[in-house]
Amino acid sequence: TVTCRGERFRLYLDEVTIARRIREMGEQIAADYEGLGPPILVGVLNGAFIFTADLLRAIPGDCEVDFYKLSSYGEKKVSSGAITEQKAVSADLSGRHVIVVEDIVDTGLSMKYVLDQIAARGPASLRAATLLRKPDAAKVEVEVDYVGFDIDNLFVIGYGLDYGQLARNLPAVYILDDEGGAGV
Ligand code: PRP
Ligand code: MN
Ligand code: MG
Repeated sequence: TVTCRGERFRLYLDEVTIARRIREMGEQIAADYEGLGPPILVGVLNGAFIFTADLLRAIPGDCEVDFYKLSSYGEKKVSSGAITEQKAVSADLSGRHVIVVEDIVDTGLSMKYVLDQIAARGPASLRAATLLRKPDAAKVEVEVDYVGFDIDNLFVIGYGLDYGQLARNLPAVYILDDEGGAGV
């Protein structure tokens, strides 16, 4: 159990479980892009920086990385729905095989926003990867090609995911202790 901003959280996905799943995802991506040319992973800052770094290292083959920055949650536990772009992707994505990488697809608004923005830049192909997805929280339909774990509609922190900018440094994923959910 950990405490963040005065609230208690309990372990939901441990480091070994996360690492094992990311290894599988990396191998799947390498197999899918074999012969196509190196994909470019576009991590969505801030939350996805840790997952992006680990997924990148789980891909046994050439790949590139860049980052896109947006924010929607602010200091709250639920999405405000108002997305602001804070940093565009530096790399030229036209003609590239792009994989957008998120830590979590909650309402889906952030992932959809990024996919729409990048689609307009003429990539050769465009896919999406996320460590976590909350199917019960979806507000928009967004196809995610690589999903680490489908989880309950609970507030989660750690492994890049924050609560008021804290808890990103926790090496595993934790959930609010007063909520249900048995882990996955
Ligand atoms: C969080 C998370 C995803 C997004 C998911 O980012 O990292 O990017 O919300 O929520 P959604 O599917 O409802 O859009 P946040 O806006 O909190 O910014 P951060 O990554 O800097 O924490
Ligand atoms: Mn984010
Ligand atoms: Mg956040």
